[in-house]
Amino acid sequence: MTYFGAMQNAIYNAGLKGILPDYPVDFATLEKRAHEALGPMMTNYVAGGCGDEHTQDTNASAFHHWGMIPRMMVDCAERDLSIEIFGDTFHSPLFMAPIGLNGEASRDRHGDMAAAKASAMTGVPFCASTLSNDPLEDVKTACGDTPAWFQLYTSRNKDVATSMIQRAEKAGYKALVVTLDTWVTGWRPRDLNASNFPQLRGKVLQNYFTDPEFLKLLPKPPEEDPETAIMIWAATFGQVLTWEDIAWFKSVTDLPIVLKGICHPDDAKKAVDHGADAIYCSNHGGRQANGGIATIDLLPDVVAAAGDLPVLFDSGIRSGTDAIKAIALGATAVGVGRPYTYGLALGGAEGAAFVLNSILAEADLLMAVNGYPTLADVRAAGAQRTDR
Ligand SMILES: Cc1cc2nc3c(=O)[nH]c(=O)nc-3n(C[C@H](O)[C@H](O)[C@H](O)COP(=O)(O)O)c2cc1C
Repeated sequence: MTYFGAMQNAIYNAGLKGILPDYPVDFATLEKRAHEALGPMMTNYVAGGCGDEHTQDTNASAFHHWGMIPRMMVDCAERDLSIEIFGDTFHSPLFMAPIGLNGEASRDRHGDMAAAKASAMTGVPFCASTLSNDPLEDVKTACGDTPAWFQLYTSRNKDVATSMIQRAEKAGYKALVVTLDTWVTGWRPRDLNASNFPQLRGKVLQNYFTDPEFLKLLPKPPEEDPETAIMIWAATFGQVLTWEDIAWFKSVTDLPIVLKGICHPDDAKKAVDHGADAIYCSNHGGRQANGGIATIDLLPDVVAAAGDLPVLFDSGIRSGTDAIKAIALGATAVGVGRPYTYGLALGGAEGAAFVLNSILAEADLLMAVNGYPTLADVRAAGAQRTDR
């Protein structure tokens, strides 16, 4: 059992010697400092979302209308936050959501490697994005002993899609997370006003530029003719998927298939019926469609419809308290998105690991104070809407 809350003792004890934490432990300060470090273009891309950003704002603020009631006289001296998923045991339910701009977020422009190292340092699994500055094989190696998952943007070219999936399986990733909501990019005013779409500037395309099937589509190697390589990437990105495609994914890989972007209970039921192995309830952090409902408010119905399938969750997690609320509402595993990328921006692997450890410490201490020694107790206690 890992006592994550010990992080606060370490911080207070260091304070006795006049040493302050290297990074902020709260999201508001982290976000402010990360935006300064990233600069305006990158901040637009990472912090920005679709339309007037109502969906992404409500993703985070909706956590405030869910509350938990503490229980007393429970022996909580030890907490067990562990979960089992995809055949592995993890010491907590957190995972690092796929962020296709990690590569550009750290100062050395190898942010995917830094994220993978943060995963190795913390034991929090990394879901590596298709959009990466380093090839998926190297990223997997940098995850060390912590199992990792691979997120797929399905290419319209079936040979490229198959190759990418099979590379991920061969590299040792333990699950294939298929993103359903991003075959086309949502309307993102901040990026549009700055005329900036990083992929069209050749960023985060290394998984394509190292793929044997993608390279076959190019007249010249990407180093010699990057413009054509980028054009061909843009022309082949983003297959529109339908339920029948699950059988195709299953025909080319033995990896568990996780469907990312499920928000409606009927879609969760269809995922079960079509043989998906897990459901990932997410609205892409409000980056893809505006006018939506906070994902945390949709989670209970998705969980009910998912039956025995594990339900991964993200969108709006900013703290350990948010993570525990998501568990209380039925999530099996909880994805941290923007916060760890901000950690990368401030301090590479160390910064991201600090952010993850802070979230874990808060989650652990919340369980201690609330009288929930295990995640099963968190689920049994549940969370209640406070605004109705
Ligand atoms: C800058 C950025 C890039 C992202 N890239 C990807 C990606 O490559 N693949 C994917 O499935 N989701 C991607 N996402 C969505 C995240 O996986 C996750 O759903 C989202 O960040 C959750 O919202 P939150 O960060 O506000 O909590 C991205 C999100 C951000 C902020």
